[in-house]
Amino acid sequence: MYNFSDRFAVVTGAAQGIGYSIAERFVKEGIKGIALIDANAESLGKAVESLKGVGSSKVIGCHCNIVDYEEVKRTMDGILAAFGRVDILVNNAGITRDAMFHKMTVDNWRLVVDVNLNGTFNCTHTLVNQMRANGFGRIVNISSKSAWGEVGQANYAATKAAIIGFTKTLAKEGARKGITANCLEPDFIETPMMVAIPEENMKMRLSQAPMQRMGRPDEVAATVVWLASDEASYINGASIAVNGGTRT
Ligand SMILES: NC(=O)c1ccc[n+]([C@@H]2O[C@H](COP(=O)([O-])OP(=O)(O)OC[C@H]3O[C@@H](n4cnc5c(N)ncnc54)[C@H](O)[C@@H]3O)[C@@H](O)[C@H]2O)c1
Repeated sequence: MYNFSDRFAVVTGAAQGIGYSIAERFVKEGIKGIALIDANAESLGKAVESLKGVGSSKVIGCHCNIVDYEEVKRTMDGILAAFGRVDILVNNAGITRDAMFHKMTVDNWRLVVDVNLNGTFNCTHTLVNQMRANGFGRIVNISSKSAWGEVGQANYAATKAAIIGFTKTLAKEGARKGITANCLEPDFIETPMMVAIPEENMKMRLSQAPMQRMGRPDEVAATVVWLASDEASYINGASIAVNGGTRT
């Protein structure tokens, strides 16, 4: 059992999938307060309601598009006003718009860069100074196995590779201020994001997976919560594969 009884966290993209599972695990671990950020108001409302039944943490839902810096700034200022500080930031929100590169539209390149990379910048930039002032912070970013290249995912892979470099830089810059930054490279996790993958492709990937199954969101959440805990105090700048062995 970790001790999050005096910790406040923000999780982006927390209305469903991996983000929801991360928020749920923090609540089960007894975190003092958690803010869920998501662009989908309806699923966000349901997520907040359902988490209130999981534990006694203070749970806040923030409807926010992380692409818009000013909107993110207002949202983070509201969370800081409610909690007093934010100790943990999990940059989880992300999207795919897959296509072979020669068929990829400019709009879908820009949208994926805006959400996955610029959104991660916006959320981190608007919180990092108060972490520095507090002398404590845990930043966990969600990259992907696709960072290493994936057919049909030039846009997505570029953002996920950038997140690794971003994380390793934050790790070096924040270390003397008590801030660690780490990221995860999940693969093949059973969430709504995966419905975009054609059935044949899924069957092929499943047959090649060493464990012959997809990962579960709670298996990603377990790693995130550990990285955010005091137990991981000397883990900084790591990028951890959570993939059942699909890339070793
Ligand atoms: N599922 C996988 O196999 C897998 C593998 C590797 C990495 N990842 C990464 O894990 C993270 C979560 O993925 P998931 O599978 O749970 O996805 P998901 O699509 O199930 O959930 C993503 C959430 O992010 C929210 N979101 C999207 N754009 C947003 C925006 N602009 N502002 C605020 N919120 C926004 C969505 O509304 C949704 O609730 C993503 O960064 C994804 O790239 C997933």
